[in-house]
Amino acid sequence: MTRRAAIAGWGLAVPEGKLTNADLEARDIGTSDEWIMERTGIRERRMCAPDETTAGLAIAAGNAAIKSAGITPGDLSMVIVATCTPEQPIPETSSFVAEGLGVRCGAFDVGAACAGFSYGLVVAAGLVATGANGPILLVGAENLTRVVDPTERGTAILFGDGAGAAVIASSSGGPDGPGLLSWDMGSDGSAAHLIEITAGGSRQPTTAETVGSGAHWMRMEGSEVFRRAVRVVVESSNAALAKAGLSTADVDWFLPHQANARIVSAAASRLKIPAERCIVNIDRFGNTSAASIPIALAEAADDGRLSDGDIVLSCGFGAGMTWSSAVLRWGRPVGAT
Ligand code: UT7
Repeated sequence: MTRRAAIAGWGLAVPEGKLTNADLEARDIGTSDEWIMERTGIRERRMCAPDETTAGLAIAAGNAAIKSAGITPGDLSMVIVATCTPEQPIPETSSFVAEGLGVRCGAFDVGAACAGFSYGLVVAAGLVATGANGPILLVGAENLTRVVDPTERGTAILFGDGAGAAVIASSSGGPDGPGLLSWDMGSDGSAAHLIEITAGGSRQPTTAETVGSGAHWMRMEGSEVFRRAVRVVVESSNAALAKAGLSTADVDWFLPHQANARIVSAAASRLKIPAERCIVNIDRFGNTSAASIPIALAEAADDGRLSDGDIVLSCGFGAGMTWSSAVLRWGRPVGAT
């Protein structure tokens, strides 16, 4: 009997606060609603208030996913948090999330930037395959508005805050059953400098000078990231599909990282996936890094776009550079988990 890791529940949590293109225009940083809409497809993003944090969003999204899966936190065998904007440098954000959920199972973070949720999905599926003794909670959560320089138009217009979560459990649905069919992962550390926060680590510990020079803000070579992103999404998506014995013609839903609407449409058009098969919500949330795929997934599952048996192709990419694609047959797990 084929056993697979399938998504048993999902949820999202975003701050109430909004950062609109008009708000950014008012900052007088040389940008406009027209430029942002045309070059990114973003209308507004969510933004944490000072008392809202990555872990708080992750706990809310996690609780929603646990409820959606019809389980209780005590059923979980593992909590995995994908984030590049952690609650604090030590300990891992997952410690705060596990405490917030009231669980004492294993908990760790996955740090693969915008590919973090996709990496986490493969890791969770591996844990399921090797005998996890209960469902796994995977959360992508970010508070990116805290790490972008509010006066830097190349990044301030792009990033937003939010969290999405999925409960991943073992399914025994046979060869045509739901779950993760295949994946492809990769990285290219020679491109590490394209998106970075240089201060605050071993190489450059935080000092008054690093703060003074703004080395604690995220820096990004946007157009080079853009160029590489389109290429890796196409290559990695095709590799994952080939491993499942499928082609893009079989894809019911393309669920890419919401980095920039133009990246999504350029990749989809090269993959020959029509726009109506692409899940896109970047207009309302901006780029939420590791949270973008699970937020979009939760919305599409909740509004009924995803039907049982649908083939979903997901692809995350980002700082590192890292990328990870997954092919899923949609549907809650079948049989005992
Ligand atoms: O999340 C995973 C990793 N991140 C990404 O995937 C992000 C990928 N990159 C992008 O989304 C885009 O590169 C950006 C949205 C960041 C920038 O858009 P772009 O179309 O690549 O613009 P560009 O950097 O090539 O700049 C084009 C022009 C430049 O002016 P000149 O030199 O042509 O006069 C920029 O200075 O647009 C200017 N510009 C802006 N103008 C108004 C750059 N940012 C802005 C802005 N408002 N916010």
